[in-house]
Amino acid sequence: MKRIGIAGATGLVGESLLRLIEADAAGVEEVRLFASEHSAGRRLSLRGRELEVRALDPDGFAGLDVAFSCLEADLAARFVPRLAQHCPVIDKSSRFRLDPGVPLVVPEVNAGTLNGHANIIANPNCTTIPLCVALAPLCEHWEPVALNVASYQSVSGAGRAALEQLHYENEFLALGRAPEPGAGPLPGRIAGNLIPRIGALDRHGDAEEELKLRHETRKILGLPDLAVSATCVRVPVAVGHALAVHARFRTAVKPREACARLADAPGIKLSTDEETVTPVEAEGRDEVFVGRVRAGATPEELCLWIVTDNLRKGAALNALQIARLLAREVRCFC
Ligand SMILES: NC(=O)c1ccc[n+]([C@@H]2O[C@H](COP(=O)([O-])OP(=O)(O)OC[C@H]3O[C@@H](n4cnc5c(N)ncnc54)[C@H](OP(=O)(O)O)[C@@H]3O)[C@@H](O)[C@H]2O)c1
Repeated sequence: MKRIGIAGATGLVGESLLRLIEADAAGVEEVRLFASEHSAGRRLSLRGRELEVRALDPDGFAGLDVAFSCLEADLAARFVPRLAQHCPVIDKSSRFRLDPGVPLVVPEVNAGTLNGHANIIANPNCTTIPLCVALAPLCEHWEPVALNVASYQSVSGAGRAALEQLHYENEFLALGRAPEPGAGPLPGRIAGNLIPRIGALDRHGDAEEELKLRHETRKILGLPDLAVSATCVRVPVAVGHALAVHARFRTAVKPREACARLADAPGIKLSTDEETVTPVEAEGRDEVFVGRVRAGATPEELCLWIVTDNLRKGAALNALQIARLLAREVRCFC
């Protein structure tokens, strides 16, 4: 992985990716940055060097070893196939995730599905990734039949403009004033509030984010019949997504045995009840934190609390891990 391109380098995920590359730049010789025309000419720093941002141009990806697309889905639909004519592309958007010919990869869970990729690899949703990392070690021993998930998703998950909306509204609250409505892309006020809908609703009333969680989890775990019910909620937290999960298995699961599996699993940090991790502690960290592991209402049910930094393991770090697997042609994570 000597030559890297980033489309959407000025966004939150692009920025997080750049910082991760900076922290471990071994072998990286060239990084090309692309964003919209508005950002062309901006300079971003990497290891003391100033890199110029260019307006997105697919021909600018010629000669690269790997590209990361950190663009919204509609732009990804237009650009990712053109970038993929030059090099493998790891796409952060939802556009290709459910395409049967596109691997949807969480390295700790299904690295083997990278085999035979056709230059487009999809990075899952920032809520799906920690859910699958936490469930995979349990699925090796107990067959899950149903998941009931409530997510508490930070504002950075909706991009830089949404994060600016939170900061702007918080300033109003700090002055004792009600925030002006319509200040950002979120569908309502977020400061001091919750929004129980992420994305458009379908005709059954399910929000886009809830459907992503259902279908992506099924694809990654290879469980097409898994029943996944979710309510995804935007919360006034800057960074860090949390999930309260009730998982039902075909057979009884003892919390202590589940904890033993989780403690040994890659990418997971298991916490005790006394040190339950919140988004504040997860920000800037690489792990998926799992805690509050306990029995549910029946012997087959297990309750879990899962937290991760949505910009790192939920987005940029997972993509970088995929790129490293591609570079080493590693066929299996463990
Ligand atoms: N944020 C998360 O936690 C997260 C997690 C998982 C997946 N994702 C997905 O990752 C992608 C990026 O998310 P983000 O949070 O980084 O969004 P963001 O902060 O809004 O950044 C969007 C990026 O796209 C660029 N862009 C916008 N219009 C463009 C155009 N016409 N041509 C070229 N570049 C253009 C922007 O460049 P300018 O700065 O020049 O406008 C910026 O670099 C999305 O698909 C998102 O759903 C995000």
